Amino acid sequence: MMNSFGHIFRVTTWGESHGPALGATVDGVPPGVCLEAEMLQHWLDRRKPGQNRFTTQRREADEVRILSGVYEGETTGTPVQLMIENTDQRSKDYGDIAEKFRPGHADISYWLKYGIRDPRGGGRSSARETAARVAAGGVAREALKALAPGIEIRGYMTRMGAHEIDRARFDWDEIERNPFWTPDAKAAETWADYLGALRKAGSSVGAVIEVVVRGAPAGLGAPIYAKLDTDLAAAMMSINAVKGVEIGEGMRAAELTGENNADEITMGPDGPEFSSNHAGGILGGISTGQDIVVRFAVKPTSSILTPRKTITKAGEPAEIVTKGRHDPCVGIRAVPVGEAMAACVVLDHLLLHRAQVGEGPRGRIG
Ligand SMILES: Cc1cc2nc3c(=O)[nH]c(=O)nc-3n(C[C@H](O)[C@H](O)[C@H](O)COP(=O)(O)O)c2cc1C
Repeated sequence: MMNSFGHIFRVTTWGESHGPALGATVDGVPPGVCLEAEMLQHWLDRRKPGQNRFTTQRREADEVRILSGVYEGETTGTPVQLMIENTDQRSKDYGDIAEKFRPGHADISYWLKYGIRDPRGGGRSSARETAARVAAGGVAREALKALAPGIEIRGYMTRMGAHEIDRARFDWDEIERNPFWTPDAKAAETWADYLGALRKAGSSVGAVIEVVVRGAPAGLGAPIYAKLDTDLAAAMMSINAVKGVEIGEGMRAAELTGENNADEITMGPDGPEFSSNHAGGILGGISTGQDIVVRFAVKPTSSILTPRKTITKAGEPAEIVTKGRHDPCVGIRAVPVGEAMAACVVLDHLLLHRAQVGEGPRGRIG
C-alpha cells in the first residue's frame, strides 16, 4: 500500500537510485489502448537529467522498457510493468553520507524509522523514483487519449525563488522554448542569469509549478474521501521536495471576500459558464468542467556546496558538504513529474466515474 496510489488506475513504483533498475507496475489500464515504449520515452526525455546547464549533469539514459501488459502494440488489461535501468551510478560521490545525515534530506528520518538505509544516492528517497511516475503518467496519457481525447494536461514554472512570472506575458507556446518550462519569456531570461549564478556558487533555490488540466468533463471526483482535489493534492505532495500544494486560489483564498471568491454562473450556448475560476475547477471535490488548476511549491535543493552542520550516526558533531551532481532548482525537472501525477489522478477518476455513474455527467442543465 505504501508504494502505490490510485483507486482503479493503480500505480506501484519500485526500485532505488543505485539499484540495477527501477520502475512501475501499472494496474487497471483499460484494454485496447495503443501503447509503445517510444510514447512513454517522449515524457521521460523531458524529465531526464543533463538536458541543459540548469539541471543535474548526471547522465542517465532513462530508457523505459515495457515488460508486460501489451500485445501487438495494445494494452491487454493486465498489469503493465515498466522498467528503467540505472546506468550512471557513482557510489563514490555519496560515500560521506553513509555516516553523516545530510540536512534537508531524508537520511535522518529514514534512519530513525528503519534503523537501516541505503545511502547510495539517497536510495528510495532519491527523486530518481520520479522517472517511474513519469513513465506511468505516459500510460495514463495514452489511456486518456483513447477515452477522453479532449483532455490536455500541461505544467509550467510560475516562480523561481523571489522571481514570479508576469501573467500578462503568459504564452502557452513559450513553455516549450525555454529550459525552465515557463510561459513568460522575460522571466526565462531573468531566471537564466539568476540560476546560472546560484549554480556556479554551488547554491540552490525553490520554485512553484502549476499544472492545468484543460477539457476535463464535469463529474470527476466523489464525496467525501475520493475528492478530486484530495487525490490531486496527495499526488503532488508525494513528489520529492514538495512542501506546499494549492488548488485554484489556494492560500490566497483566505484574503478574499465571498463576493470576490465565488465564481458566478451564467448559462452559455453550450452549458453553464463561470465568470472566473477561483475554485480551480473543483467544487465539493467534483470537477465542474472548468480548467483544473493545481499548484505546488518545491523547496530549494538541499545538496549545496556550503558546509552545513550535522551529526554522525554516533551522535558526534560534524560538517557536511554535499558534493556530486545536483539540480540547482529541482522545480525544472519537477514539471513533467507534476504533469504525470495529474494524468494518473485524472484517468483514475475518469475510470471511477464510469464505474459508478457511467459515460459523461448524468445531470442535465437546460
Ligand atoms: C525532479 C527532482 C530532482 C531532484 N534532484 C535533487 C538533487 O539533485 N539534489 C537534491 O539534494 N535533491 C533533489 N531533489 C529533492 C530530494 O529528492 C528531496 O528533497 C529529498 O529526497 C528529501 O525529501 P523531501 O524534500 O520530500 O522531504 C529532487 C527532487 C525532484 C522532484
